[in-house]
Amino acid sequence: MAGKDCVKVAVRVRPFNKREREAGSRCVVSMAANTITIQDPRNPHVRRTFTFDYAYWSHSGFVRNRDGLFAAEEPGGRYADQGSVFNDLGQGILENALQGYNATLLAYGQTGSGKSYSMVGYGPNKGLVPTLCERLFQAVRANQDSCQCQVFFSMLEIYNEQVIDLLSRGGRSLGGLRVREDQLRGFYVEGLRRVPCDSAARVEQLMEQGTRTRTTAATHMNANSSRSHMLIIAQLKQIFSKENITKQSNINLVDLAGSERQRSSGLEADRLKEGTAINVSLTTLGNVISSLADAALGKKAVHIPYRDSVLTKLLQSALGGNSRTVMIATLSPSDICYEESLSTLRYAERAKRIQNKAVVNESPTERLVKELKAENAKLVLRLSRLGQEGRKTEEETKELRRLLTHNEMQIKAIQTLWEQHLQEALKDWEMQYATITQERRMMQMHPYMLNINEDPQLSGVVKLFIQEGDWDVGLSEGTSRAIPIKGLGIQERHAVFTNEDRRVSVTPVAGAKVMVNGLPIMYRTELQHLDRLILGSSSTYLFIGFPCERGADDWSRYDYDYFQSELAAAEGIHIPTLCEDQSQASGEPSVESSQTDPSLLAVFYDYIKLIPMVTEANQMSQELSKGVEFKLEIKNLAMSDCRGRDLEKDIAVRVTSLENKQVWMWSKAKFINRKFLMEEVYHQQKQQQQQAESALGEGQGSGSKRLVLARDRDPFWDPLEPLHLGSAHLWLQSLAFRIPLEEQVEVLGPEGTEEAILQAQLLPCSPMGLPLGEEDILIDPTELLGKRLDFQLFLEQCCGLRWLKEAKNRGVQIGLRVYDCPQSFYTPAVWHNANPLLEHRVHFSAMRTSQDLLNYLQSSALVLELWGLQEGCADMVSSLEGLRLTPEGSFIIDKASAPDPSMLECPASVSDLRSSLRALHQDMEQLRSVNAALRKENSSLREQLNRGPGPEGGRGRVERHGSLRPSCDAELARALKVFYHSMTSLRAQLQRLRRHRPSEEADLLGLRLFVDEQSRLLRDFGEQLELSVTALKQDVATIVRRKRERSGIWS
Ligand SMILES: Nc1ncnc2c1ncn2[C@@H]1O[C@H](COP(=O)(O)OP(=O)(O)OP(=O)(O)O)[C@@H](O)[C@H]1O
Ligand SMILES: [Mg+2]
Repeated sequence: MAGKDCVKVAVRVRPFNKREREAGSRCVVSMAANTITIQDPRNPHVRRTFTFDYAYWSHSGFVRNRDGLFAAEEPGGRYADQGSVFNDLGQGILENALQGYNATLLAYGQTGSGKSYSMVGYGPNKGLVPTLCERLFQAVRANQDSCQCQVFFSMLEIYNEQVIDLLSRGGRSLGGLRVREDQLRGFYVEGLRRVPCDSAARVEQLMEQGTRTRTTAATHMNANSSRSHMLIIAQLKQIFSKENITKQSNINLVDLAGSERQRSSGLEADRLKEGTAINVSLTTLGNVISSLADAALGKKAVHIPYRDSVLTKLLQSALGGNSRTVMIATLSPSDICYEESLSTLRYAERAKRIQNKAVVNESPTERLVKELKAENAKLVLRLSRLGQEGRKTEEETKELRRLLTHNEMQIKAIQTLWEQHLQEALKDWEMQYATITQERRMMQMHPYMLNINEDPQLSGVVKLFIQEGDWDVGLSEGTSRAIPIKGLGIQERHAVFTNEDRRVSVTPVAGAKVMVNGLPIMYRTELQHLDRLILGSSSTYLFIGFPCERGADDWSRYDYDYFQSELAAAEGIHIPTLCEDQSQASGEPSVESSQTDPSLLAVFYDYIKLIPMVTEANQMSQELSKGVEFKLEIKNLAMSDCRGRDLEKDIAVRVTSLENKQVWMWSKAKFINRKFLMEEVYHQQKQQQQQAESALGEGQGSGSKRLVLARDRDPFWDPLEPLHLGSAHLWLQSLAFRIPLEEQVEVLGPEGTEEAILQAQLLPCSPMGLPLGEEDILIDPTELLGKRLDFQLFLEQCCGLRWLKEAKNRGVQIGLRVYDCPQSFYTPAVWHNANPLLEHRVHFSAMRTSQDLLNYLQSSALVLELWGLQEGCADMVSSLEGLRLTPEGSFIIDKASAPDPSMLECPASVSDLRSSLRALHQDMEQLRSVNAALRKENSSLREQLNRGPGPEGGRGRVERHGSLRPSCDAELARALKVFYHSMTSLRAQLQRLRRHRPSEEADLLGLRLFVDEQSRLLRDFGEQLELSVTALKQDVATIVRRKRERSGIWS
């Protein structure tokens, strides 16, 4: 009877990997019984707890024994090894299958979280699939007296919605295998190879074969295995002859693609974000799970979108259908992966709710045997009855006997099919075995190249032997001395490997890319054991020398990351340099890599992840004649920060059109998305070429056609947009004292390059925009509190624009945002000039200066953004939305403390405007007369003061005491102003010092000169600093002395 079975869900957390250990990652996951808690690393009091059917702690508390097996440190420890995971999950799957239920096991989690480790395993740490097969055949043998068992094994991969048969003996069909639907069987893959197996060893060998196909498919198609789903299907048939029952069950074992791809947040604002098929299966799986979870909660009329992807078609019975299903969600323990881990847990939580209806299966064929047997039994009975009754007619008996033989033959035919299949498979297996044995022998005799893949499951699978003599490595399979390889950027003849006098060397063929240990080579280069080779764009191999050179080295450290780090180091990017940048900018000493900021490490690992992708994108662009070039850049986000802090970095990809030097900047997420789309376009193009070539071979067609793509669907193209070239910081402190500031600030690009010099002024002014006088300078900025503050920003000129020096047909704009203004302001565009005049003035008013604004002025800078324009792109426009204006037309900042907005909103009509203007004029006149009177009084007081105290000083003292103080204070303010100005120029000097670096090509002499220059700059800086401080001290001392003198006279 069909009961309801909820999908069982397990979570497993793996140990830190190398990257995480190096980064000094913190574990943000904890477990107790079957609950798991995850802590937000930025907000440690934010914790989320989830409960599942099983929770496996495989993070710590383990040792690696002599056989390489990971086991609990002490008996009964909390570490969950492969065995305990199998006992809970695998055993259940096996028991269900033996009972005749369909069973499915899905592994879900982000790339590198341990899906393949749990499913397939590594080395001696066998995963669920091999152990399940082992136990299955044990059970088969144990039950062989009572039932005959048949096991068929299939293995397939879904990549980009194409199904690839991993056990196929023939070549791969273009476009992959088709998924069909059958009334009885549901969805199935047409033509998928089913290999009969009778032992676990055979299954293991088939898996090895499947992995080999997967590896070659991945390199040929330039596909990333993390984005493919692997399905292993084991069909189990149990024929119980005595009971006349046949039970049949399908076991689906699914290693899903890395889950991080489906998060939409990463694909911010790409116009082609929906275009790719790469995510379809995983996204649809998510939708199916969500819909099923909704259905389980009782929501009515839920549509389950099984038909939307290949994966969900094939898993239809596993999800919400006739199957007992288990999901293992794998997690990284590290703080860097918090977001992904949380999303995995949420996904698993939803999957928990799915309800299936599993039934014991009887296959139609077996029913037929059963029916045939039943019919035979009836026939035998009839025959015997006829004999007993003596009513035998010869005709009837003959017919009954014919029917009996026919039925028996049919039964035999059905049953012998299996034996035949098995015999055929045996021959196949023997051939394969011979190849494997041959390979093992070759490994003991010759040097070879071992493939290294991004996915550790696929590393070390392909071996290219370099026997004595010259060997042509490349696409060509033409000669007997060719070693054919495929991959992006591989030429027909790519390189020649020579094995001579027990030495191996490689010589690149003209125009072919060959890298050895991170550096490109042009000439014959001798290889050493464990050298790293990259052929073409990204075919990576480890060179394994002659057996006598090998020793007991651990090759596992030369993983894919190692290759890419080597490339990054050749470009001058490694963790210490990133840290130096950071410590230089923050003024702190350099940090050890063990204490490296995780976000910085994440940037480094992103960088090395993107290196091969960028190389591949360039290769595709070249092959498809797209005329664009991609380059990785590390952006310093500090440039957009108004306090110059938060020195986070991010990666961007600069795209340049080779023909007209147009430039685009893509975010990391956008580039990754585009790279998938480029691959799709590239493969389509290659397929069309192949078809055209084969048509040409058959005398049809007219050679290769180029795929024509509409521009708006072309992943290599984008409409032009203004580019953020860099930023300058104009510090606002002077405004807090109402001191005008005139500066020449450097606009720095994201990589620290000088993009331009900007002349800017900050001018405290009256509400009407008139400049303030010296007497308006404040000694104590808190005097501003609650009062109106007006200032103008005057952008005068931009000089030495690098953007314009590169190409003349460009323009620039300056953008800025002040305090709480909701919009950015932009200067009008200026074109075709490397030193354009801007002459742009904006007036800002704070109606009642708040403490917040004052803090902002004292600690922040105005970030002036330099935007680059290219012909054909629209200018940046200042939007006035949400802005409020004073009656004089200046922009209001510090709105929270501004008086009633209705008073300040733009007057509704011109008459309103006029009347408020009039009122203002009156106010101003009054203020002017007050001001004039005060000035008069002020100057007469000064005169009196200069004359010194007269004999009637005693009387004057009382009157003048109050008015003398401002005079001394004004002197102090002037002194401070001078000091402030010298500090501003010193700050610029300090910035120059920080950026002062030796040229990359500098030799020893160059370095000496650099050191001399650096010491001179430092000395100058020190002297200037000393001078400024001394001047201030002297000024203050003089002021204090004067004050004392005066008070001495009067007191
Ligand atoms: N429980 C574990 N114990 C020890 N090592 C583990 C464990 N889980 C994963 N690892 C290691 O982490 C690495 C990545 O694991 P794995 O290849 O299983 O990731 P994945 O989820 O399959 O990634 P992808 O999506 O790229 O295929 C491997 O080197 C593996 O050995
Ligand atoms: Mg994997």
